[in-house]
Parts: sequence; structure tokens; C-alpha cells
Amino acid sequence: MPDNPVETHYTSSELGGTILAALKAAGKDLEHLTPDDLAPVDEFHGGQRPATVRLAELVGFTGAERVLDVGSGLGGPSRYLAWHYGCHVSGVDLTAEFVRVAEMLTRLTGLVGRVDYRQGNALDLPFEDTSFDVVWSQNAAMNIADRDRLYREMRRVLKPGGKLALQEVAAGPGGPPHYPVQWAREPSISFLFSQEATRAKLEAAGFRVAAWQDTTEPALQSATARARNAVGEPPALGTHLLLGGDWQAMFRNSGRNLEERRTELFNAVLERI
Ligand SMILES: C[S@@+](CC[C@H](N)C(=O)[O-])C[C@H]1O[C@@H](n2cnc3c(N)ncnc32)[C@H](O)[C@@H]1O
Repeated sequence: MPDNPVETHYTSSELGGTILAALKAAGKDLEHLTPDDLAPVDEFHGGQRPATVRLAELVGFTGAERVLDVGSGLGGPSRYLAWHYGCHVSGVDLTAEFVRVAEMLTRLTGLVGRVDYRQGNALDLPFEDTSFDVVWSQNAAMNIADRDRLYREMRRVLKPGGKLALQEVAAGPGGPPHYPVQWAREPSISFLFSQEATRAKLEAAGFRVAAWQDTTEPALQSATARARNAVGEPPALGTHLLLGGDWQAMFRNSGRNLEERRTELFNAVLERI
């Protein structure tokens, strides 16, 4: 088992085999898989693929960018950016098992050479200074306490004028979240900051806000729909496969936390100054 509690939270045994079996059960052709086939299971954040599309449109990719996905998970967003726009994307993630599965899914979708992954910590990114045009991160910072260092590291690896694209969960005014949620079963690995505090930390780290969208309302609608569906048998393919036996409680709490404004969601694009 991993020696840090965040990686332990995300690690389950036989994840690769479980996903392959679910793809077969969902009628997918494993010889000809596309990122669209995987989207129900490998986009591990609120709003899933549509949220990735919205954030990518906010960035305005041309396809020439070299992109770093911080907390890349199973690689759904990074494969989408490489496949749809033609960017080269590197992913870094703390969870070794996610990195292994991300590599397997990349082979199965024929995207080797356009996307690569490595295990590493966002607080000590294993990349040279000024390596990337865009740093991208969806729903990873809520496991990271030291945001000042996180945002400084993201800035360090960006080229001057490069962009930082974020989809993050923020603390809302309604009090602490109900647990379990998808990123934590209890508070010791959950670190939420208000949108205002997050923005101040980003500006202090050397970023200028280019776009900031509070997406709590649309996220609440999709979480409510998801919670309504979180009864009985789940679909063959979904992020419940990553979450363990308490996935229904996690889906329910996500909706409840947004509804009670214990959590908020935002998208932001910032420029490195
Ligand atoms: C909810 S998942 C999101 C995965 C991916 N961004 C996506 O949207 O599909 C959160 C991810 O952040 C990663 N993570 C958490 N803390 C991290 C850290 N300090 N450094 C790198 N990755 C981290 C976890 O391992 C996990 O894969």
C-alpha cells in the first residue's frame, strides 16, 4: 500500500482489469477505443467531459501548445486535449496506480507519443523551469494543503506569458463539507479555500486573472442529477469504479455540499506574469 494518505485514498486493487471488464460489458471494442469511449470513467472531476470541453474553450488552444496536466488521474482530460486539439500533453500524478492505468488507456487509444505520464508530487514538479505553454489542473488541489507552493511550482514550469487553467473545488460559506466525498473520506486529506483566498494566493504567486467563472450552479444541477441516479445498479462504465463501496454516499454528498454552499466550484484561466 502507498505510504501517503492521499495516494492510499485513490488506490484500489485491480483498477485496470476492472475498467477493461467494464468497457467490455458496455459493448466497447477494446481494439478500437477512442477517448470518447472512455469519457464516462476517465474524466474524474465534476461535470466530466463537458466540463473539460468548457475549460479547454476558455483557454483557447491552438494545438501547438505543450501542456502539463497536474494531478492527471487516469488521463481522460490529457488524452482529450491531445486527441481533439493535437497538443502534446504530459501528466503528473501522485497515485502510482492511476499513472499505470493512464498509460494502459493511452496505449489502447493509440495516443502513445502524444501524451505521457509520470508519478510525482505537484509540490515538487519533476520538470525544468519554463517547459510548458499551458499548465492545466482539474479537481486535484483540494488534496493539497500548501497552495502557495503548488501555485509557485505551476508558475515555475510555465513559460513567461503561459497560461494556467484550473477547475477547482472551493470552500463555500455553508460550513465544512459532509464526508465522504470523491477526494476524501474524512477531513484530514481535504484542503478547501474560498474562491477569494484562492485568487489572492494565485496573484501572490505571480499570476494575472484572465477569466474566472463561478460554476457552482451548473455543477449543482449535474450533481443533483447524478445523485438521483445513484440508486440501484450503476451503469457498467462510470467513476464509481474508482471510488469503492461508498460511492453512492460520495455522489449524494457532492450534491448536498453544493446545495448547502459548503462547496463551490470555479474555472479560471490565469496568465503567468
Ligand atoms: C479527483 S482526481 C482528478 C484526476 C484528473 N485531474 C481528472 O480530472 O480526471 C484527483 C487527482 O489528484 C491527484 N493528486 C492529489 N494530490 C496530488 C499531489 N500532491 N501531486 C500530484 N497529484 C495529486 C490524485 O492522485 C488524483 O489522481
